[in-house]
Amino acid sequence: MKDSPQLSIYPSLKGRTVFVTGGGSGIGAAIVAAFAAQGARVAFVDIAESASATLAEQIVEQGHAAPWWRTCDVRDIGALQKAIADAAAELGDFAVLVNNVASDDRHTLESVTPDYYDNRMAINERPALFAIQSVVPGMRRLGFGSVVNLGSTGWQTKGSGYPCYAIAKSSVNGLTRGLAVELGKDRIRINTVSPGWVMTDRQVTLWLDDEGEQSLKRNQCLPDKLLPEDIARMVLFLASDDAKMCTAQEFTVDAGWT
Ligand SMILES: NC(=O)c1ccc[n+]([C@@H]2O[C@H](COP(=O)([O-])OP(=O)(O)OC[C@H]3O[C@@H](n4cnc5c(N)ncnc54)[C@H](O)[C@@H]3O)[C@@H](O)[C@H]2O)c1
Repeated sequence: MKDSPQLSIYPSLKGRTVFVTGGGSGIGAAIVAAFAAQGARVAFVDIAESASATLAEQIVEQGHAAPWWRTCDVRDIGALQKAIADAAAELGDFAVLVNNVASDDRHTLESVTPDYYDNRMAINERPALFAIQSVVPGMRRLGFGSVVNLGSTGWQTKGSGYPCYAIAKSSVNGLTRGLAVELGKDRIRINTVSPGWVMTDRQVTLWLDDEGEQSLKRNQCLPDKLLPEDIARMVLFLASDDAKMCTAQEFTVDAGWT
């Protein structure tokens, strides 16, 4: 099947409250749009104002409820936690959190300074735990919840050119596994979704060259390119009640690369 099939509709996601970090473009935008199409009540933060505004408009044009969104730099944990609290005050306690924000900017071993290292972690690692900290009291009130952390297959396939990003992304499974027992007692599930190489506008513009095309052909088992929607589909499943007994796991969507 070459063309994207229609999104499955999960009855349990109708009206469900969902918070997404980095939801303004790329995979995050596909996740926000996919939840909106389920009739979920979606909120997101992103540093990119115009992309976020465009996404919100497109969702409304498609006939879905406008998402709650705010421009927010997730390196500022206070601002991130305030955004979550403000969104919850309007939409209700969050049942779903998608920790999606990241930046895979390239860097060499030699160029990394302590400040640069901290900056990479402040985008790629630190926000997830503090977002979880913010939503868990509400999930406990609801009596259930689903946290989805976006990992990556990049470090697992020895992807190079971004050691700080690789370090941060390899820690996602630790976050998932390290909180699963504590959260599970209250029926809050936590899982990792690890994408392969997904053809977002940013990836196509910045990194997809002839060598990349060859690499996709050589390494993927399936011939088609991964799209942001392919990742959103797995996130929807994990957020839904259909995944009610899935927690502490990594779900890889990489066309068979790893
Ligand atoms: N695209 C891929 O091939 C791929 C592969 C493996 C894993 N992933 C993971 O999937 C997730 C999404 O990836 P993507 O390719 O869509 O990323 P992206 O870089 O295209 O988008 C990330 C979003 O985060 C936002 N953002 C960046 N810095 C921010 C900050 N400081 N504060 C707030 N928002 C900020 C960006 O504006 C963007 O909307 C990430 O966790 C990434 O690690 C992506």
